Amino acid sequence: MHLTKEEERLLESDNETVRKCMEILVALGEIYGAERLVEIRSAQISGISYDNIGDAGLEWLESLKAKVVVRAYANPAGLDTVRWREMGIDSEFYEKQMRIIRALDGLGVEITLTCTPYYLDTPSFGDHLAWAESSAVVYANSVIGARTNRESGISALAAAIIGKTPMYGLHLKENRAPQVRVIVEEGVNPAMAGYHAGKLIGGKIPLVEFPERLSRDELKWFGASLAASGGAGMFHAKELTPEWDSFEIPEESVVVEKGDVDSDCEPDLVAIGCPHTSAEELRTVYSLLRKYGKVRREMWIFSSRRVIEQNRELVEKIEEMGAKVFADTCMVVSPASSRFECVMVNSGKAFEYLPKLRGVNARFGDLEECVRWATR
Ligand code: F3S
Repeated sequence: MHLTKEEERLLESDNETVRKCMEILVALGEIYGAERLVEIRSAQISGISYDNIGDAGLEWLESLKAKVVVRAYANPAGLDTVRWREMGIDSEFYEKQMRIIRALDGLGVEITLTCTPYYLDTPSFGDHLAWAESSAVVYANSVIGARTNRESGISALAAAIIGKTPMYGLHLKENRAPQVRVIVEEGVNPAMAGYHAGKLIGGKIPLVEFPERLSRDELKWFGASLAASGGAGMFHAKELTPEWDSFEIPEESVVVEKGDVDSDCEPDLVAIGCPHTSAEELRTVYSLLRKYGKVRREMWIFSSRRVIEQNRELVEKIEEMGAKVFADTCMVVSPASSRFECVMVNSGKAFEYLPKLRGVNARFGDLEECVRWATR
């Protein structure tokens, strides 16, 4: 991989953190055949729940001595940093999680604690990024037309400290071409369409034909589920995403039908907000609560602290109806969900990950079904 004089200097830096970050980027670039590094607009660092990185990760983060040189966002942590007790989190976990957050803050990472950084600072078409959270990666590539590989938390942090990432994979136009057509039949919920499509096509990039025009939130649900069940880093959607007609239409095609998923457990928690809810989704939840009445079971909604603060009045009304709106975390990365037996979700991603990562059963329902269940 070609390095500029400045990049070579960083590889020899006296600062061990900077040197190691450069070594990580060069190693990645060489493994994947990158010709050079490319400047990034922002980075997003995942895997920061204490539940995920444990003491070894915490101590490693605390040992780093550098500052990020581009905007860098933190993915959700294992708790709501203010209302953690209400989630049933113990103080030992809280202390460790806060040390992780302080270490990231010391590196200059913005403590956004969200998987939807695009609501805070929306990249532009063609921007290069180093984002790590799979749903954010797929949204940035597909819906916005920015360019990012699916980084690990470590490579995203290294990119943030250097301000660059190796130019390979989805940074190059030729690797963004669709490989398979996915035709979604009438009546399939977008999150479930993504979930089923991922199971059918694995990590291939699809060109998706939806039976109707989807909102950006619906594309968000589709992409998050697709990335979770299959592993794709992006999708194109006919007439909906910015690059859909920039490539040849693939010959291979699959059809996503309205099929049931195996999920008949009796929910003791209803959890909304995977990925974190937008302001629009909060408005929809509130109007559904007005339609169905007060919440009678545990109902948790996850969003970013910024979106909650910008919609304070709406959030208060939702909480008056009996739901809890938590920030900074989610039902998958927080150990708080593990004490429930069955969690009802409107997310294909949470439906895929809750049994695997939290050891709880999951049941799928669309947003209206989730609210109806919580108010029954
Ligand atoms: Fe976000 Fe957690 Fe889902 S990080 S995409 S809400 S699993």
